This record gives sequence, C-alpha cells and structure tokens, in this order.
Amino acid sequence: ATAGCTAANKTLKVGIESNFRPFTYTEGGESKGFEVELWQAISQEANLKYELVPMEQSELNKAVQAGKIDLAIAGMTVNKARKDNFVFSDPYFQTGLVILTQADSPIKGKDDLANKVIATKTGSTAYTFAGGITGIKEVRGYPDISEAYDQLKNKSVDAVIFDERNVHDFQQNGGEGKVKIAGEVLNKESYAIIAKKRSKYIGRINQAIGKVVKDGTYETLYGKWFGG
Ligand code: ARG
Repeated sequence: ATAGCTAANKTLKVGIESNFRPFTYTEGGESKGFEVELWQAISQEANLKYELVPMEQSELNKAVQAGKIDLAIAGMTVNKARKDNFVFSDPYFQTGLVILTQADSPIKGKDDLANKVIATKTGSTAYTFAGGITGIKEVRGYPDISEAYDQLKNKSVDAVIFDERNVHDFQQNGGEGKVKIAGEVLNKESYAIIAKKRSKYIGRINQAIGKVVKDGTYETLYGKWFGG
C-alpha cells in the first residue's frame, strides 16, 4: 500500500464557514455555496473522502492550525502573515475588498474615510486593511459579517469594508436600495484552501484544482454562482 491509498481511506474534516455568501453558508441546515461545490469537484478529482464542518472564521483558523480539522475552504485570503501559520493551496479565486456605504452617503472612496467609523468582520483581511486607513476614527469588528451590515443599515457606522463578492450578495439580499459601493476595489486578494503546515494533501489538491479548471468544471460553477 502507498501513502496515497491510506490518505484516500481517511475521511477528512473540511472546515467551511456558516455565513460567507455566496462562497460557503448554511441554509435550512444545509451547507451551500460556490466553494462547497468547488470542493466537491476537487475532492472527487483527488479521490478524497470528507465531511464538512461549519465554523466561524477565527475558530476555523485555530482548528486548522491545531490539526483538529484537516483543511478549510472558506474564502481564505492568501497573505504573508498567514503563511506563518498555514500552508495554502494554489489560489482559485481573484477578488478584493470594497467600501459599502449608505445609499445617500457622501463617501466616494477611501480618501473620504478620515474620522469615519467602519464595521467589518473580526480577524478578516478587511479588518486589518481598515485599521491601516489614514485618519480612520474607529474599526468595529463583528464575528458575523451580518452584524456589520446591520450596523450600516441602521446608520450606526459610516461604512463596511469587506470582500467584494460577499458585499455584492448583501446588496441583493438585504441591502436593496439602502446601500451602495463607494469607489474602486481596494485590495487585490486571492482565495485558497488552507491546511496545517506540512499537510500531505496539498499536492493532490493542487493537481485537482488544475484539473477542474482545465476540464471546464470551474467555469460551470463560476457561471452558476457569479453569473458567468
Ligand atoms: N477573505 C477574507 C479573509 O480571508 C474574509 C473571509 C471571510 N470568511 C472566512 N471564513 N474566511 O479574511
């Protein structure tokens, strides 16, 4: 028996997030989203058995580091600091951060954020980014991004900064007519699967990512979730 055979027999615990639409989310007790379906395709290609474990982002990060779960696919932005803690797969999604503000707000972009209060998700790349904006008054972090959007809707904060595609989703599901994006995409980011350092699965996963991109599966899923 080879190492590959052993790995194929193990049921991997794969962390996802409960509220990161449209990538991974829980609805009616079911795990749904672009990443849930992408992972399905990747795991099939790599011949990996798995069970999904929905968690909040900070728990997800700790669980992967501690080896309590094997992998996580949850819109995890690749960055230098995180490379100290995890190994990343090849990236599978190019995106960035945007500013979301009230429909009637005078805020037009990053330069208008001096003395403003920003809400975002604790521990996210947006949280770090917002804290670095010159003259910012306060950054409020919430473990669930829906709370940040609520704060924006009831005008307790001036803006939300968060991942572009999740913001688009909120604009269409809850924020209709109340919010608008201010300015350009701020921070180029890409998402990848994370695993514990020295994970033996990343090589096979990268191969499988390459395959599902090449055979058109990725494009089909992208079209389904992001409209082509
Ligand atoms: N892309 C952002 C980051 O990596 C936000 C991710 C939100 N949720 C998550 N489970 N990673 O911080």
